[in-house]
Amino acid sequence: MTGGLPQRVPAEGLPPRVRIHEVGARDGLQNEKAVVPTEVKAEFVRRLAVAGLTTIEATSFVHPKWVPQLADAEQLFPMLGDIADVGDVALPVLVPNERGLDRALALGARRIAVFGSATETFAARNLNRTVDESLAMFEPVVARAKAGAVHVRGYLSMCFGDPWEGPVPVAQVVRVARALMDLGCDELSLGDTIGVATPGHVRSLLSALNAEGVPTDAIGVHFHDTYGQALSNTLAALQHGVSTVDASAGGLGGCPYAKSATGNLATEDLVWMLEGLGIHTGVDLAELTATSVWLAGHLGRPSPSRTVRALSEQPTRSQSHKEQ
Ligand code: HMG
Ligand code: MG
Repeated sequence: MTGGLPQRVPAEGLPPRVRIHEVGARDGLQNEKAVVPTEVKAEFVRRLAVAGLTTIEATSFVHPKWVPQLADAEQLFPMLGDIADVGDVALPVLVPNERGLDRALALGARRIAVFGSATETFAARNLNRTVDESLAMFEPVVARAKAGAVHVRGYLSMCFGDPWEGPVPVAQVVRVARALMDLGCDELSLGDTIGVATPGHVRSLLSALNAEGVPTDAIGVHFHDTYGQALSNTLAALQHGVSTVDASAGGLGGCPYAKSATGNLATEDLVWMLEGLGIHTGVDLAELTATSVWLAGHLGRPSPSRTVRALSEQPTRSQSHKEQ
């Protein structure tokens, strides 16, 4: 290890670049008991951009009663305008329906995400709809977004297991994934909402999606780390050719409508692995770690990321010389 980075030892058969889709400000903060002040959220997003993240999911235009933690979307989104100074940063937002789309477009959002479910129970709990009713709800959202050249991501939750329904058959996931792509989504993010996936399962779902005509380059992976499998699952996806990986700074996250969900794959843990594999991320790991430590101070609890802990607890070289 040198200067807070792993030794670079590339492995064969992996994508040369990976785009990290940072979800800490949305998936992370939506699940915090404490409502984080809007100014702190804006500063968080800005610091993520300074650390080199280029796709930063900013907030959700959902019903404020359903997710009170993100009820300040109207105040927050305009505060992010100056992030353009930092570089070319995309700020996608979650939009469940036309009301959400209207709110997002009114503020100039250029990237949105609809979010479907592979299971009926989660569709009912998260969207108050059946799976097919939610697809019908997304249809005009995607059509209007595409007509305005707005990029659309389609999330699909409960791809690997559901806390109420148990195992979720691959064919059931593929049906809804295909339907989201048929609506016109530009990309699909496979959500392991409760973190139960294992690498063979990941490969099998990716192959089944390819067989149904969903190309690997349209697929991103979204792993929660409940069972400590997020990084292994990510490596399996990279080996399959996936090059878009969702992660949240400091491992923040969960889902308010799936109580067994814990944090997402921590961005720092992901960057550590990718840089070690020689895959360029453009992320400054020290800056990102400092951001997660700073946010943990606001949240009043330490980051669950092993990399954040290792890097922030490590004495600097000059300190360790003095101690010797
Ligand atoms: P509903 O109660 O069925 O809404 O909720 P409705 O369509 O019947 O409308 C009821 C009222 O809400 C109306 O007002 C609407 O205007 C208003 P009224 O006429 O009664 O005065 N309304 C809205 N207001 C503001 N913004 C809106 C909006 N929509 C309706 N967008 C709804 C349906 C979809 C709105 C609700 O279920 C909802 O907001 N759900 C969001 C849940 C959520 O955000 N969950 C977390 C994100 S998903 C996730 O975390 C998983 C992911 O990370 C991937 C993974 O890990 O798997 C993405
Ligand atoms: Mg999630």
